Amino acid sequence: MRIRWAGLAGLALILVLARTSEAQDKAEGRKYYVTYCSGCHGESGKGDGPAAESLPMKPANHTDGAAMKQLSDKFLLDIISKGGGAVGKSPFMPAWGNQLREKQIRDIIAHLRSLPASPSTGKAK
Ligand code: HEC
Repeated sequence: MRIRWAGLAGLALILVLARTSEAQDKAEGRKYYVTYCSGCHGESGKGDGPAAESLPMKPANHTDGAAMKQLSDKFLLDIISKGGGAVGKSPFMPAWGNQLREKQIRDIIAHLRSLPASPSTGKAK
């Protein structure tokens, strides 16, 4: 019986830790987002950053849940690390692969996923 309880407590601890690390990733991602992305995409992710007006096209609105749902994590990782030009979108979306590690980009993606009013995990592929 003792061992069972220990097992349960261990499981609960793992669940709590998994939750916390997910929240932490998002919080880290938000910091990077504000530093690197908000100039164009806006701090709230609506595509209304201070530099947006001088761009020939509007930076994406990451709070648009219907649009974000269409984007897989792989697509997000690709466009953020390689830039818009690499995925057939506007080159005014810069490539960040040289400045950000993949972990940082994944944290940013966790943050992006939390922006729409009804968050989703996006398409599977
Ligand atoms: C210099 C301005 C600028 C900066 C800085 C910038 N972006 Fe973008 N981003 C754009 C533009 C413009 C587009 C629209 C490209 C298009 O639609 O063809 C875009 C598109 C995107 C998209 C595609 C969304 C979609 O609907 O296809 C994602 C994701 C994205 N940006 C994430 C980021 C992240 C994350 C950062 C910071 C690491 C960042 N951007 C920094 C200008 C910028």
